[in-house]
Amino acid sequence: MKIDIVTIFPEIAEAPLRASIMGRAVESGAVDIQCYNLRDWATDKHHKVDDIPYGGGPGMVMKPEPFFAAVEDLREDNSIVLLMTPQGKPFRQATAERFSQESHLLILCGHYEGVDHRVVEALVDEEVSIGDYVLTNGTIAAAVVADAVIRLIPGVLGDERSTQEESFSGDGDQIEAPHYTRPAEFRGMDVPPVLLSGNHAAIEAWRKKSAKSRTRQNRPELFKKRHDSDEA
Ligand code: ADE
Repeated sequence: MKIDIVTIFPEIAEAPLRASIMGRAVESGAVDIQCYNLRDWATDKHHKVDDIPYGGGPGMVMKPEPFFAAVEDLREDNSIVLLMTPQGKPFRQATAERFSQESHLLILCGHYEGVDHRVVEALVDEEVSIGDYVLTNGTIAAAVVADAVIRLIPGVLGDERSTQEESFSGDGDQIEAPHYTRPAEFRGMDVPPVLLSGNHAAIEAWRKKSAKSRTRQNRPELFKKRHDSDEA
């Protein structure tokens, strides 16, 4: 799979992609990821990428021309063009799973007050938000999307089961059970004895029950969704 990120801060996107699992995925060739500087498509002397908003208001708006030029250069027949913006559709595990099936993601990062809406209308397949808060720039959000997608590519994680049984997988409405490792006793706190029992059925039952109570406590809205659909 190929991921291209277009941003005015390529260094912000590049750093997390070089380390750890993502770094290994890039090195192994499981993913080809490139970060481009939007200013390289600005044709004026100062490589200007923003301008004042029509209709007035605070801040600056990103100009359409550099985005159009960048997308026209980088887009391929099977590309999905994403724009990172707090006004986008919420990014979820199911979105990551869907994107991981694509051959080319071309991710555009917004900045300032927003991006000229003609970019959205003419170039963008999906506007994506990573959560209900506003970052200074979409670049960190693009790295979040890249990370969530790359780890789902077969072979990137050592153990495929880790993506099948984790939080938000499947119906996306449950978080997983707590985890423990050695030592079995630490500062007076014991690992739940069932996890040391070797009884796989009992361990599975404990994990199901713990996942349920943790979901109810930390994510009551998910718990309600699952519970309501159980009744339906
Ligand atoms: N840019 C600024 N805030 C964002 C968010 N929450 N998601 C995606 N892109 C953004």
